[in-house]
Amino acid sequence: RIYEYIHTSSEGHVGIISLNRPEVLNALNRTMIVEILSAMESFDQDENIRVILLSGNGRAFAAGADIQEMANDSAIDFELLDQFKNWDRIAAIKKPIIGAVQGFALGGGFELALCCDMVYAADDAEFGFPEVDLGVMPGAGGTQRLTKLVGKTKAMEWLFTGKRITSGEALHYGIVNRIFAKEILMEETLKAAAKIASQAPLSIRLIKESVLKAVDTTLNEGMHFERKNFYLLFSSEDQKEGMSAFREKRKPEFKGK
Ligand code: HXC
Repeated sequence: RIYEYIHTSSEGHVGIISLNRPEVLNALNRTMIVEILSAMESFDQDENIRVILLSGNGRAFAAGADIQEMANDSAIDFELLDQFKNWDRIAAIKKPIIGAVQGFALGGGFELALCCDMVYAADDAEFGFPEVDLGVMPGAGGTQRLTKLVGKTKAMEWLFTGKRITSGEALHYGIVNRIFAKEILMEETLKAAAKIASQAPLSIRLIKESVLKAVDTTLNEGMHFERKNFYLLFSSEDQKEGMSAFREKRKPEFKGK
């Protein structure tokens, strides 16, 4: 399928989505969010794809929601559009999403990065929530996901001031997993994605589900949830294959079943 604001491709079992609206630093208009969601959902259903890689280009991952597009919106427009439902669907993707962030990841761009399960960043990456400078605030999970990730006081500081977070700070606070020179970011992110794609897909799927549950619930409930997922994996062919391979001292061949 041909998209207007993104490119999609695949490499091995990795489905790649590249934001592609460089003339406005990949500002996210509504069509673009629909396209990102649509590409993610098709990769999620694609048997050949095991991991999704989401990247920007040039000077930006994404410099936020499209300010031109929303400048004249009213509260009722938002209510009737219910535009964040598409963001909820992005958060419901079952396969792991790895972000490759270079340049600006601001506002909605930062929120999109926070929807990724892991983030690799270029050394020039800059995160931030400049919404306060516009008289608004994050609306696609920024205040919630950032706070759960880094804790209250840092989240307050960054959200109150709108100041930019360098890649080094982002690494320090666990917002990103690793930092690379921009020239090798894509290659390194693909390598990590390929490694994850070589693991048992059902394990990865239920680990993702369980970790996300931990962010959202009590320890007890989460333990219960984890346990059921653990049990569930013992009805998979890949569990038999993984454990037989270990005992036979060979490499497992996982099928995702
Ligand atoms: C629309 C944008 C944009 C955005 C950049 N552009 N960000 N257009 N929406 N969010 C456009 C600029 O208008 C400009 O277009 C072109 O991209 C290049 O940007 P410049 O400003 O010329 O580049 P530079 O001087 O290097 O500054 C880069 C920047 C700045 C610091 C990232 O562009 C900036 O502050 N952008 C806005 C960042 C922001 O406030 N994001 C949060 C948005 S609110 P022209 O046509 O002039 O060349 C938000 C709410 C989320 O995200 C709600 C949930 C989705």
